[in-house]
This record gives sequence, structure tokens and C-alpha cells, in this order.
Amino acid sequence: METSQLLELSQQYLMSTYARQPVIFTRGAGAILWDNEGRKYLDFACGLAVCALGHCHPHLVEAIQKQSRELLHVSNLYHIKPQIELAQRLVENSFADKVFFCNSGAEANEAAIKLARRYAWGKWGGQRYKIITCEKSFHGRTIATITATGQSKFQTGFSPLLEGFSYVPYNDISALEAAIDHQTIAVMLEPIQAEGGVNMPDPGYLEDVRRLCDQHHLLMILDEVQTGIGRTGRLFGYQHHGIEPDMISLAKGLGGGVAIGALLAVDKVAQAFVPGTHASTFGGNPLACSAALAVLDVVLQNDFLPNVQAVGQYLEHSLTQLKNKYAFIQEIRGIGCIWGMELDRPAAPIISACLKAGLVIVTAGEKVLRFLPPLIIGQEHVDQTIAILDGVLGESYAQEVHQ
Ligand SMILES: Cc1ncc(COP(=O)(O)O)c(C=O)c1O
Repeated sequence: METSQLLELSQQYLMSTYARQPVIFTRGAGAILWDNEGRKYLDFACGLAVCALGHCHPHLVEAIQKQSRELLHVSNLYHIKPQIELAQRLVENSFADKVFFCNSGAEANEAAIKLARRYAWGKWGGQRYKIITCEKSFHGRTIATITATGQSKFQTGFSPLLEGFSYVPYNDISALEAAIDHQTIAVMLEPIQAEGGVNMPDPGYLEDVRRLCDQHHLLMILDEVQTGIGRTGRLFGYQHHGIEPDMISLAKGLGGGVAIGALLAVDKVAQAFVPGTHASTFGGNPLACSAALAVLDVVLQNDFLPNVQAVGQYLEHSLTQLKNKYAFIQEIRGIGCIWGMELDRPAAPIISACLKAGLVIVTAGEKVLRFLPPLIIGQEHVDQTIAILDGVLGESYAQEVHQ
């Protein structure tokens, strides 16, 4: 079928929840994608930070094939071997004692919100239930998680939202302290605000949040849906800060392209979930857990995360050279394999032009180009990306000069 026909059918049959790019990817390998007409693209978005090992990594493909021949699904009414092994692997490599599995980032955050409330209910009765989150945050698209998300554009038209949330500016510890009251139970935030613009925490900020949480007996919940599983050059984003949260939510990179979410928590909090309090039919099924185990096999190899750090520094250096060249680039920020380039203009036309030139990147907010390459990239991928981006930005600059 012709591409134009497929695009028409897409519009006819799918709810228009996305402003999709007019491209149909049909194949991928490593950091490369091909569309249905055989055109080749460099993928520096990796399915929104999901394909951590790139496309069709042989170890991941083999694990999925093997598991699908043995057992896809049985439900959580029974014990599931890969689920137990995955929970053990996550616990042994983090602050956490216990894991709950689900299918997405929103669900992992939903579980975090429910667990925080249930824990507070057990500790203080129903009197305390409020959660503080940050402006410009993004926590998902369910009613609870759009309420947690401190951006009104995701909430418009969905009232009444959930009760008990308030928002403070990211990196403003005084505002956070002022927002805590006798009903507050938790603070929930991202170690890097990803969708909100790749906003980095100031030095000491997450440590200060931890200190405030301890002082006021609040739970510190970190949304690591985008920053987790090596994206920042450490397995988890919190590990850059010398602190331990009480809970983290994971999804995206955990399954490397297979849908899985997870909530990790310390034991005293996790105990608030008992049989019947929370559940998920698909959560942690054999297929998803085998995929996640394969991802972790690779990410936890000795030289993997140091490589992410090294290529991340090279990407920073290369993006900074572009910033020095074009005055309309305001700032470069990020770490590891998550980078934002803030422009003084809308990012969307640049994203479209990059796609036409064979580079897949995404936005983060209106004016930020976001780079989320697979964690397996090398310097050659960075060089190719910068060459394409330079060409596109150069045209944007030329148009500006001619106006
Ligand atoms: C930090 C963060 N939390 C939660 C989510 C929601 O994840 P999902 O789309 O898997 O529900 C996202 C998705 O972009 C995210 O970046």
C-alpha cells in the first residue's frame, strides 16, 4: 500500500491523540531506522527513551523469542520465575527492598501514589493524604498522574481532578518547604524533568528535598520513568546525588521496547500493599520480565554505563560547539544520553526538518530539542547527528538572516 494511503487510513481509524510525523517506520537495527519506502534514519529519540539497547538488539530478540516459545502469560495469581528474578535484580542494584510490576510509566506512578496514600492511611489514619509535585513535571496520562503533572495543558477539560496535590517550582527548596503542611505525605519529582524541557536539578537540590522529607516524615518518590535504566550514565538517576529515595517508578527503557513498568520501594512502605490492595493483570508477565532481564544483562555489563557516560560527554561537547556557532541556541543541558537544546524559537519546525534530513529527534516543551539516543551509540553516531543538525540549523539561521 502507498504511504499516502496508509496515512489517510491512520487518520480515518485512529483517535487523533498525537500530532504524528508523516512517516511509517518498519524496521530498525541499533541506532538506525528504515521507513516503509526504504529511507534510512538515525534514531536519536529511540521511541521516547524506550529502546535503550537500540533496535532489535540480538540478546533482547533472543530472550523474547525464547520466552514466547515457553510461556507468555499466566497472571499474578501464580508465581512467575522471570518476575522473581527481575525483582531480585532490581533490588540488588538499587536502594529498594520490594518491587511491584505494571505496564507503563503512568501505571508505575499511579502505584506510587496509591502506595503513598495507603502507607499514610496505615500510619496516620485518613487524615494525611497530600502530595507535592513540581511545576513543569510530567508523570503520565491517567487522571491521578495528570493531576500529579504540574502542567495545566495536560489537565484542561478533565476536571474534576484528584484531590490532594499541590505544585512548587523545580529547584526551589524554600517553596517546597513552604508548601508542606500537616496533611502532606510525600514529595514526588523527576531527577531530571524530561518532558518539561530537560531541566536539570541544581547541585544539592535533591539532597535538600531528601532532608526536608526526613524532617517532616514525608516519602520521597522519584519518577525515574525516563531517567532510569542507564539513561543518565548510572543505572538510576538518583545515584548521581548521594541520596536514597523511598520509592522510584520505572518504565520506558526497562523493557527495551516491550511494555513494562515497575514501582520500587523500601520495605516499610511496601508493606502497605497487602493482597487485594493493588494489582495488574498483565503486570510483570513472563514475556515482559524476560525482556527486562535481557536489557539488564546488557546494561549491567562492566563497561556499559561508563560508555554511556563517555559518549554523553562527547555529545555535550558536540552540541556545545553548535551552540557556539548559532546565537539562537540558548542552552545545552543534560547528562549521559538525555540532552536538551533550548532554542529562542519553536522547536517543532526543526524536528520536522531533521526528520526530512534523516535524523529522528523530539521536542521537550515548545522550544527545546531533545536527544534520547539508544544507550549503545558511539562517537560516529554523534558525529552523523551533529552533521545533519548543523545543516538544518544552518538553514534556519540563513532564513533568519534573509528576513
Ligand atoms: C518522567 C515520566 N513519567 C511518566 C511518564 C508516563 O509514562 P507512560 O507513557 O509509559 O505512561 C513519562 C512518559 O513520557 C515520563 O517521561
